[in-house]
Amino acid sequence: MNLFDVYPLYNITPVSGKGPYVYTEAGEKYLDLYGGHAVISIGHAHPHYLKMLGEQLHKLGFYSNSIQNPLQQELADKLEGIAKIKDYSLFFCNSGAEANENALKLASFHTGKSGVVYFENAFHGRTSAAVAVTDNESIKAALNNLHEVTKIAFEDVNALEETLKQSKTAAVIMEVIQGVGGLDEASTEFYVKVETLCKKYNVVLIADEVQSGYGRTGDFFAYQKHGIRPDIISMAKGMGNGFPIGGILIDQNIPAKHGMLGTTFGGNHLACAAGIAVLDVIKKEELMKNAASLFNYIQKEVATIPQIKRFKGRGLMLGLEFEFEVAELRKALLFDHRIFTGASSNKKLLRILPPLNIQQEHFEMFFKALRSKLKNY
Ligand SMILES: Cc1ncc(COP(=O)(O)O)c(C=O)c1O
Repeated sequence: MNLFDVYPLYNITPVSGKGPYVYTEAGEKYLDLYGGHAVISIGHAHPHYLKMLGEQLHKLGFYSNSIQNPLQQELADKLEGIAKIKDYSLFFCNSGAEANENALKLASFHTGKSGVVYFENAFHGRTSAAVAVTDNESIKAALNNLHEVTKIAFEDVNALEETLKQSKTAAVIMEVIQGVGGLDEASTEFYVKVETLCKKYNVVLIADEVQSGYGRTGDFFAYQKHGIRPDIISMAKGMGNGFPIGGILIDQNIPAKHGMLGTTFGGNHLACAAGIAVLDVIKKEELMKNAASLFNYIQKEVATIPQIKRFKGRGLMLGLEFEFEVAELRKALLFDHRIFTGASSNKKLLRILPPLNIQQEHFEMFFKALRSKLKNY
């Protein structure tokens, strides 16, 4: 049987990983500056992660959400402490799209309305409502176009207020730093205004932190830099370091009702063990601090490379923008230097999303490779 052919694949087969590296069967070593789409937060095969998952697998891998599972509460408590958030509750799911789908559904339940506002260049996932609020028509089917959605440009507060005034909007969903869209971030004034308008018109503000969350920007969540308080925060990617786990944090003003949300796999025992291990390592190894301090080093290096026209992002969620399209450069880094980097919908932008415990020496290797390739441009 063939696999459904939806992914263009590199002819590379990693079979193991350690820290910031993955290895093929032949022992070829690749530096992972992309973390498999920002998923690998604490590095490949981290010993604490292996121990926690291994032990849990031998005890109880799964049982449904109809029993007591103290691991869920342990994860929630650790998350609240490390993220420095208060008065939210946690609902577990399995992926980023599912987190956003639940966030949007909950906003609709809470307000009794069905409209959603999203922003140009946004990416929120591929399921029904999540893809409807994603700015890429080529991945929407007719079914997805049944949602009542309005797209607005980043920073266009007038258009936002005009839409919210019409009283049909349940939620505004935004990535504070856009991931797939190309690392754009609006001003603090804009985010504060979005929050104010949402309050004024009784609209739920959803921060999609699926990619930017879990310490990646040097803050636990990217929105925290701007001093706002979203009503719902969606999370996934870095949350399980590869084990599928996602969740939404829900402001205490949004009440729960039995049955309004649900999932078979969300918050299962193995997923929680993975999620707790990730939080333990982020705390113990001070990975947010590492992301912030490496950013300073990277910023200085980037300033010395004239071909880089713009440097975007924060912490270890970064975009290097050139005057040319980067597809060939990415291939050269991968095949000549064995370094994984990422692309975005901005074809001139190289996306960097490494494990959060990466070290300066790894970036030194990257910059050496990059400089040697840029001689050809
Ligand atoms: C900001 C953001 N939201 C949602 C998603 C969807 O996540 P998933 O692929 O886990 O469904 C992604 C994936 O890239 C993302 O970057």
